[in-house]
Amino acid sequence: MQRACVIGWPVEHSRSPLIHRYWLKQYGIDGAYEKEAVRPEDLARFLGALEARGYVGANVTLPHKEAALQLAAVVDEAARTIGAANTLWLNQAGRLSASNSDTYGFITNLDAQASDWNKGRRPAMVLGAGGAARAILQGLLTEGAARILLANRTRGRAEALAQAFGPAVSVIDWKDRNRALAGCGLLVNATSLGMTGKDPLEINLKALPGDAVVADIVYSPLETKLLEGARARGNRVVDGLGMLLHQAVPGFERWFGVRPEVTPELRAHVAAALGAN
Ligand code: ATR
Repeated sequence: MQRACVIGWPVEHSRSPLIHRYWLKQYGIDGAYEKEAVRPEDLARFLGALEARGYVGANVTLPHKEAALQLAAVVDEAARTIGAANTLWLNQAGRLSASNSDTYGFITNLDAQASDWNKGRRPAMVLGAGGAARAILQGLLTEGAARILLANRTRGRAEALAQAFGPAVSVIDWKDRNRALAGCGLLVNATSLGMTGKDPLEINLKALPGDAVVADIVYSPLETKLLEGARARGNRVVDGLGMLLHQAVPGFERWFGVRPEVTPELRAHVAAALGAN
């Protein structure tokens, strides 16, 4: 039996088991996917004994994503670029290997929901400067975004991020975000604002073109105030659940040998569980 897990502290809230167990059942695989609550000070020991614990690999969630990258013996380009790992496995030589599927998950979902998001190569606005924003900038630029306007409450963090990506990324002041939406073809919320229990995202979409796409990484609630407001004025919306589902694909394939599909049924399964919380 192949076993994988998600490692976090806390880990209770993780939706990954819901996704991977659904696929295990769907594909009739003799496997298991567990939750492992691991304290930061125990992470190195836990990962060092991954195989001894019977695991072929793991997802990594907060607060371990950066530390897991440091502890891996082999790091792929995606994880190195983002500076954090969310997917681990033991390679054929038994060495701990790390990747990050956040860029893949975001872009695959965006392409699936709004394939013409870069039509006209208009600027895209990204809100936030944390790990998610970094993964999204990487994806948008790789996919041909011509210009990205980056806004973050703490301007210095946005500037540091922009510097890593070069002249296609321009920093704008957090207070200028509303008017800078004029002419944008895409708006992405890569902050945790709007998530249940967090502060609301305050933004006025008036200047945003009516045919622009609005995407949110927040998936709880599924329809955030941002998406609700965007939908009400006719913009196409892309919610955060799609990214969550797609980012799980590469890990499952690596551990269990089947490339799983993100289907409407899987989406409904996870959405129902989100609604229940
Ligand atoms: P990470 O993505 O690295 O985990 P985080 O602490 O979850 O970081 O914060 C994500 C983003 O939400 C950050 O860009 C943060 O802005 P700061 O860099 O200024 O901290 C943003 N954020 C959190 N609370 C906010 C608020 N009340 N107003 C504006 N932005 C906020």
